[in-house]
Amino acid sequence: MPAIGIDDLSFATGTYRIELAAIAERLGVDPAKFEHGLGQVEMSVLAEDEDIVTLAAAAALPIVERAGREGIRTILFATETGIDQSKSAGVYLHRLLGLGDHVRAVELKQACYSGTAALQFAAALVARDPAERVLVVTSDVARYELGTPAEPTQGAGAAAFLVTVEPALVELEPASGVFTRDVMDFWRPNHRHTAIVDGKSSISAYIDAVAGAFEDYRARGGAAFDEIDRFCYHQPFTRMAAKAHRQLAERLSSSRDGAALDAQIDDTMGYNRRIGNSYTASVYFALAALLEAEEDLTGRRVAIASYGSGSVAEFLSGVVVPGYRERSRVEAHERLLAARTLLDDEAYLALQRSVQRDDPSNYETQRQTSGPFRFAGVRDDKRIYEPTA
Ligand code: CAA
Repeated sequence: MPAIGIDDLSFATGTYRIELAAIAERLGVDPAKFEHGLGQVEMSVLAEDEDIVTLAAAAALPIVERAGREGIRTILFATETGIDQSKSAGVYLHRLLGLGDHVRAVELKQACYSGTAALQFAAALVARDPAERVLVVTSDVARYELGTPAEPTQGAGAAAFLVTVEPALVELEPASGVFTRDVMDFWRPNHRHTAIVDGKSSISAYIDAVAGAFEDYRARGGAAFDEIDRFCYHQPFTRMAAKAHRQLAERLSSSRDGAALDAQIDDTMGYNRRIGNSYTASVYFALAALLEAEEDLTGRRVAIASYGSGSVAEFLSGVVVPGYRERSRVEAHERLLAARTLLDDEAYLALQRSVQRDDPSNYETQRQTSGPFRFAGVRDDKRIYEPTA
């Protein structure tokens, strides 16, 4: 069986950003709470004419431009932020990317987890036909009620990756551990733009689920905790990764502690600290940050610990491929983050409220995005997407 894994990884985020200090000031909270307590300094905010589809297309375009469209027969679109009850966001994405007719496009949902399900489904398709290259896109906008403790844990972004044989970035190892338990820690009924969350129980549900998934990973032949070099956790806020990693190390009586544990996760947080929560994309922003950091990780074992409230977790590992740095998109990614326009609190609040439309069946959006595609609005209940150039 040839090696299967991630061959390319690219991301996109909102046109705007807000510093969490501005939100702290309005809420009358010590800004140190967000910076140190949550580990977040700013978050991305979408322009009026951006949504999960425009983000996904902006993330995936550099991948198809580099690798070509040949052999891509499947788009797996993972999201919590669905835009339609029936039609897959993957179908809009398929057109924007200019892919041919002979492609299957579907959407997958399980809160922040479904990107990892997509990775596994992609690997299975590639195992069946090594000529296939599967495009996985994770794209989300995290929205909570304004003025609640969850407000500083919003954010938005999309990460796209290509799953192939003989991958250039990370070769997946065969073992993976899964865990499902029906809990009500975070959910979003169909009529709501914002998630309902029980913050404290979501943190313990996350830790229990990841520990359960790790136990299953081990039982299925996965590496011991101390044989894993780096850990990419789902990061609803980056301190969550530190909490989860320490708890896991303690539960498993790891020989590592303190700074040695921090060193295994520090490089995974660089992007999420600035983007905020991007639900399905978050763990792949962690992977991108790790692979684009200074340290050479060739041949090292990296874990992906994926969690989606509700709840499902999966723990899997892979090995970093020699030459992976030649595929790095670090400069483009840094440029993208640096180019975001800083909003003040008032402008941010206005944008957040703009998702509530008087007539959701017919409206136009303002031209704001700096990305390659825009969501022009809705006409007779049909969403309209177009290139910006
Ligand atoms: N300086 C430094 N740190 C401070 C501080 C200060 N002045 N004041 C408080 N802190 C620390 C607290 O000690 C705490 O840290 P520890 O947990 O390490 O003790 C941290 O800041 C957070 O403070 P609180 O415990 O008071 O928490 P909060 O009421 O502000 O809520 C939250 C935090 C629960 C994460 C909330 O933001 C929330 O509900 N967010 C959405 C849910 C979420 O992200 N859950 C994560 C797990 S679920 C998941 O992963 C799926 C998903 O994507 C949603």
